[in-house]
Amino acid sequence: MLQDRFGRAIDYLRVSVTDRCDLRCSYCLPARFKGFEEPAHWLTFDEIERLVGAFTRLGVRRVRLTGGEPLLRRNLPELAGRLRGLGLDDLSLSTNATQLAKHAQALKDAGVTRVNVSLDSLDRQCVSEITGSDSFDQVMAGLRAAKAVGLAPIKLNMVAMQGVNDAEINTMADFAFENGYILRMIEAMPMGDTGRNAQYLDLGPIRDRLVERYDLIPEVAELGGGPARYWQTRQAIAGHHGKIGFITPISQHFCASCNRVRLTVDGTLYMCLGQESAFEFRPLLRGGASDAELEAAILHAIELKPERHEFIEQPTKLIRFMSQTGG
Ligand code: GTP
Ligand code: 5AD
Ligand code: SF4
Repeated sequence: MLQDRFGRAIDYLRVSVTDRCDLRCSYCLPARFKGFEEPAHWLTFDEIERLVGAFTRLGVRRVRLTGGEPLLRRNLPELAGRLRGLGLDDLSLSTNATQLAKHAQALKDAGVTRVNVSLDSLDRQCVSEITGSDSFDQVMAGLRAAKAVGLAPIKLNMVAMQGVNDAEINTMADFAFENGYILRMIEAMPMGDTGRNAQYLDLGPIRDRLVERYDLIPEVAELGGGPARYWQTRQAIAGHHGKIGFITPISQHFCASCNRVRLTVDGTLYMCLGQESAFEFRPLLRGGASDAELEAAILHAIELKPERHEFIEQPTKLIRFMSQTGG
């Protein structure tokens, strides 16, 4: 089992398969951003499979495919199938869903278990303003397709922003409950110079209000092994209990139970979303390293994992954007 210096078991690897995206969400990838990785540096499917294989031999059980927008990487279902073949317990995808309708069946067939979809609002105009694109209909079609092919559960990621989409919270919760989606409310993190421009909203008071409005009780079972803390409706709605997750990296961080590291498209392993500590795997992969050398490098890299982020103490510290590590 992989364990870091603070005794945390690392069993979850997030793999970013591209740093490009067809949207430009204000908190993630600004329209003016130009620093995309050159294609020659993108890890190939063979390289990703080999490296993830080394991680699984050391105890990684869950993998999440991220981006940028992962569905922009050509033949992503093929990669999903290859990773599934490594014997993971969980293979999931974080997507903006603009291309999901097209790929949902192939992803399901390849062994992807579940998807998390970015959706900040149900107001078409608001979505356009946040994402810089009139993407609402495509996203809705993507959600319906994911549900129809049985990718489950489907989680909706809503970055909550004061004065931008905070008036939409009840509408989003109703929509999620009615459709059997799990709404997750997220506090914006200052990455690059994006998240810190988003109008930060402390989710503590929002959670209290939602608990009262929907008569929610805390869910004890961990759902997905991620940073969200879940609450569920006491009564079933439309045949099932509604669930809302709260991801509060700023008001109440969850670093003590962190179980993950992140691989970027160019083969850099970031030890923490909110720190620069990293290890470069591309030189090893392209320099003829053996499997044993890859595994030794992973063990060394995990030693570099910091205790926690410093988004609060040093909100202007991180120069990389969220789109580069995929959340
Ligand atoms: P599940 O496995 O379904 O729980 O997924 P997840 O919540 O880990 O992944 P997702 O890609 O849907 O991310 C949702 C939000 O959580 C994004 O805003 C991520 O940036 C944030 N997030 C995920 N993991 C971490 C983490 O380790 N630290 C911090 N600070 N934020 C995280
Ligand atoms: N802060 C918090 N969450 C973010 N995401 C993207 N940028 C940020 C940010 N600055 C979220 C999106 C996406 C998920 C993978 O990361 O909601 O769904
Ligand atoms: Fe883990 Fe860093 Fe996220 Fe904290 S901020 S939960 S230490 S990745």
